[in-house]
Amino acid sequence: MKIGIIGAGNIGVGIGRRLAVCGHEVALSFARTDEALQQAAGAVGHGAQAVSPQQASADGEVVVLATPWAVTLDVVGELADTLAGKVLWDTTNALKSDMSGLQLGTTTSAGERIAEAAPQANVVKAVPPFAEVLQSDSMLIEGRRPGVFVCGNDARARATVLRLVTDIGASGIDAGPLSNARYTEPLGMLLVQLAYVQGMGTRVGAVLTRGADVAMEYIRYRITADSAEAFLDSYRAAVVPLAASEYCLGYDLARCTEDPELFILRIRWTSIDDHLQKFRASEQFREFFSHIGPFVPQIEEMQHYNVALAS
Ligand SMILES: NC(=O)c1ccc[n+]([C@@H]2O[C@H](COP(=O)([O-])OP(=O)(O)OC[C@H]3O[C@@H](n4cnc5c(N)ncnc54)[C@H](OP(=O)(O)O)[C@@H]3O)[C@@H](O)[C@H]2O)c1
Repeated sequence: MKIGIIGAGNIGVGIGRRLAVCGHEVALSFARTDEALQQAAGAVGHGAQAVSPQQASADGEVVVLATPWAVTLDVVGELADTLAGKVLWDTTNALKSDMSGLQLGTTTSAGERIAEAAPQANVVKAVPPFAEVLQSDSMLIEGRRPGVFVCGNDARARATVLRLVTDIGASGIDAGPLSNARYTEPLGMLLVQLAYVQGMGTRVGAVLTRGADVAMEYIRYRITADSAEAFLDSYRAAVVPLAASEYCLGYDLARCTEDPELFILRIRWTSIDDHLQKFRASEQFREFFSHIGPFVPQIEEMQHYNVALAS
């Protein structure tokens, strides 16, 4: 997919690189100097282009808005005509300049203000994890993908951004219409507070738990040392359709410290029926299985468990 990014800073580069690695065609724009823009495109790599905001908006099937709030509405207003009909992924936090709070909220949101500035665009609000997480080797925090709430009035545009959120390695949560950005944006502010004021650091994220009938599936493999890398490569590809399934609430693949031939895959399903009846009948299962099929003979145990105790 062609992705135009407006804002060549930490988020623009972080999202751009993760999308480029997945094979998306990335064009980056909007820095204060040409040199900064070229450097940012170089940091994204994978053939990413440095272009003007106009070109990024015109060429991108999805346009990612990653600008400081202070300049955001002006930039969007100038590009409004070009953004008509585009999916506009808004990543901004409407932070006060001293980061002490949000400039607006509760009765409106940055996402809605952006939609007013570009009324023909399909604005989708999805505040990504911290740039430090995006730019690190792994998106996992305590073994889980950080959650990203995705709001927008157009269901197809929302689905597109949910897919891109999965591609960057986060866990997209469909949070309904754009007006819900009034409630999701303050969560971004809470994370800023936790990270910088409460001293938790930027490796923090939100996770949504839902559903009463969550079922755990455990699959234990014994994989010899010579095929461990091939096994991990297969799972790197297999988890993409897995994470995209609406029935999968999350997964982790752990390798045993004492016996490195042992791997345990844990998948949290919305229910056992959803896993066995709906996921197994889906295209996502076929794609998942095409990657891991060769390792099925190495499975030692594959069963569902109900959580009896947890912290
Ligand atoms: N950083 C995070 O962890 C994080 C997480 C979630 C959401 N967000 C939100 O994402 C958006 C982007 O954040 P960021 O951290 O990527 O910001 P950033 O690193 O400061 O990047 C801002 C980009 O906009 C460019 N820019 C062009 N004209 C500008 C002007 N007149 N004033 C200021 N910047 C100008 C900057 O150019 P130069 O490169 O030349 O400076 C830079 O490329 C913000 O709304 C932020 O609140 C950030």
